[in-house]
Amino acid sequence: MVGLATPDDAAVWRLSEDKAIVVTTDFFTPVVDTPYEYGAIAAANSLSDIYAMGGQPFLALNIAALPDNLPVEISTEILRGGAEKAREAGVVIAGGHTVKDKEPKYGLVVIGFVDPRKMLSKGGLQIGDALVLTKPLGGGVTTTAIKQEKAAESHIKEAIEWMSRLNKTAGQLAVEFDLRGGTDITGFGLLGHGLEMADDSRVLLHIENSQLPFLSGARSYAEQGIFPSGAFDNKKHVGDRVRFDEKINEPAQMLLFDPQTSGGLLLGVPQFKLESFKKRAEELNQPVWVIGEVRTGNGIEVRS
Ligand code: CO
Ligand code: CO
Repeated sequence: MVGLATPDDAAVWRLSEDKAIVVTTDFFTPVVDTPYEYGAIAAANSLSDIYAMGGQPFLALNIAALPDNLPVEISTEILRGGAEKAREAGVVIAGGHTVKDKEPKYGLVVIGFVDPRKMLSKGGLQIGDALVLTKPLGGGVTTTAIKQEKAAESHIKEAIEWMSRLNKTAGQLAVEFDLRGGTDITGFGLLGHGLEMADDSRVLLHIENSQLPFLSGARSYAEQGIFPSGAFDNKKHVGDRVRFDEKINEPAQMLLFDPQTSGGLLLGVPQFKLESFKKRAEELNQPVWVIGEVRTGNGIEVRS
C-alpha cells in the first residue's frame, strides 16, 4: 500500500481487509551525552513512524554500531534505554545486530499493524482541517547547543523529556478520531515535513507563527545562530516553497527549518471534531497545539 513510489513514514503491506503490516527503521548518532537517554530517544524516534501511520508497534530489533573501545557499561546503558522505551510502548525487542564503528549509532527496526481503512498518511489532509502539533519544536538547536557545550542544564533536561516521549497517545488520538492526515516531525523539520503533506494532499498549509510551541531555550539559541547544518539543508531544499510574513525575522524563520529528533505528530483534525479532540487529549495528558489550518492552494504560508 505504501512503498518507494509514495514515500511516507513507513512501508505498509496489506495482509487482509482489516489488517496491514507496517515496517520502519531509523538510527542515528548520539544527540545527548547520557547513554541511557540516547537509547530511549533513539527507540522513541524509531517507534514514532509506526504511530505516524496510525499503527500499533509490536516487535522490534536493535541496530547498533559501536566503537571497539566503548566501555561495556555504556553500550549496555544505550541498549537498556532502548529496551525500556520499547517496553513502555508494549513492544518486544526480539533480537538485532551490532557492528563496529568509530561513531556510535543506534536505533530500531520496528514492525507494527494498522487497519488499512484507518491508516494515516501524508496525503490525507482535507481543506479546512486544523493543523495540530503534539510536541514543541526547537530540538535541533537545543541538541546543537548541547554539542557546543552552550546549553543550560534545565534546557537539556526539558529537551530529553520531550525527545524520549513516545508518540503513542498522539497516535491513539488520531485513531480514535478517525483522522487521515498525519506525519511525525523529524529531520526535515516542521516546514520540510509540512511541505511533504501539503504536496501529497494537494493543499496549502497556513501556519500561525505565534501559535507554535518551542522548547524554552530554542529562541535564544536561534538568536545566537546555534543551528545544526541540517537546518540550512532544509531551508535550501524547501525554502522557496514557503512564504513568510515579513514581520518574521531571520532566526525565527530558521527555527521552522530546524531538524527535530523524535518530534511530535502533525495531524489534520476536521474542525467539527476539534473541540472534542482537544478535550480527549487533555484527559489523556497529551499536549496539543493548534498551529494553523489547511487551505486551498499549494506550499506553506507562515503568518506572524
Ligand atoms: Co516519519
Ligand atoms: Co523515519
